[in-house]
Amino acid sequence: LKIVVDGLPYAVVVSTDSGSEVARALSGEQARAFVVADKSVASRAQEIGGHLRGAGCDVAGEFFVRAGEQYKRWSSVAELHQRFVEAALDRDSIVVAVGGGTLTDVAGFAAATYLRGLRWLPIATSLTGMVDAALGGKTGVNLPQGKNLVGAMWQPLSVIADVEALATLPKAALRDGFAEMVKSAIIGDPSLLVRLETIEKASSSQAWAPLIASAAAVKVRAVAQDPHDRGSRAVLNLGHTVAHALERVSKYRLSHGTAVAVGLRAAGILARDRTGWSYQDHRRVVKALARMRLRVRLWRLPLSDILAAMNLDKKRRLGSSRFVLPVRLGEVRTGVEVSDDDVARALEELTHAPAAGTW
Ligand SMILES: NC(=O)c1ccc[n+]([C@@H]2O[C@H](COP(=O)([O-])OP(=O)(O)OC[C@H]3O[C@@H](n4cnc5c(N)ncnc54)[C@H](O)[C@@H]3O)[C@@H](O)[C@H]2O)c1
Ligand SMILES: [Zn+2]
Repeated sequence: LKIVVDGLPYAVVVSTDSGSEVARALSGEQARAFVVADKSVASRAQEIGGHLRGAGCDVAGEFFVRAGEQYKRWSSVAELHQRFVEAALDRDSIVVAVGGGTLTDVAGFAAATYLRGLRWLPIATSLTGMVDAALGGKTGVNLPQGKNLVGAMWQPLSVIADVEALATLPKAALRDGFAEMVKSAIIGDPSLLVRLETIEKASSSQAWAPLIASAAAVKVRAVAQDPHDRGSRAVLNLGHTVAHALERVSKYRLSHGTAVAVGLRAAGILARDRTGWSYQDHRRVVKALARMRLRVRLWRLPLSDILAAMNLDKKRRLGSSRFVLPVRLGEVRTGVEVSDDDVARALEELTHAPAAGTW
């Protein structure tokens, strides 16, 4: 199965046969390829390397690294640069990055900064990677002071979502990606929500592929309209103002997707009296998240700390914050100002589990 998502200057391919897809993408290239892969997907990366060699590509090396948020740091980039030197990569070389969002962020940044920019090809193996991280050209690493503080916009040759890889993805990572998919449905694809309401974790890759393509298409459209992230791409921040605060206050014990799920419910509550967002749609969103065991209730984190963390947010203005809020399924509004008091009240509501008739 192969679905091509249009809209960017390069192809975004959702495929159940990523090996052939990579080989096709690089066939006819005289350049040398260098495969960087997350250790957790080493065997898939080896298969991909095999396909590349089979297609006549010169694979200069394969390098397997530990991935995960704690490895998204300068030293990982420096290590990759060292390997690039050893493999004698030149300005025509291509970095093939196989893994989740942390791996493609690091390897993409290493590619962007070596010899002032090598071409690169991300093969996303996590759900978050497929519908979010590998799309849009943002690469980078964290600093001790904060996430994604160092990076580069560096567009790939194309993007391949390796749907078969989902078979080994840890459930927690699948949930994280699912929260982003629900976000995409609210932003730009009501029919995606219908399908997210019935898909199962254990559903086949054939069943997941079209949903991944639809979610990716929402991000692709947002990126295509605003390639340099100066304005309209902000729709993608739906649920994220609250989510980032929760992640910080929990010292990143809450995963990003878990925080986004709570953030989406928060956005719904804030939208209630502001955009005409309906209770019916809100319930559907909350239920879809809960069905994948994403908790939508605030739990244990002190509200005052969350409010304080939100005050650090870039989008803040005096006495109020700006939010992306849902209007109806498939439409959101950016820059909606909400007073600090109203945010506090919404957070208070979030401490109660949503029951029938409540938000
Ligand atoms: N560049 C962007 O625009 C962008 C957008 C969204 C998120 N991100 C970044 O993406 C990262 C989150 O992505 P993620 O959730 O993929 O995290 P991740 O890369 O840490 O992957 C999650 C876990 O799953 C493992 N893994 C990945 N694919 C696997 C597979 N197929 N089988 C078994 N294990 C597998 C990883 O080793 C890791 O332990 C964050 O750092 C975030 O900042 C970037
Ligand atoms: Zn996110």
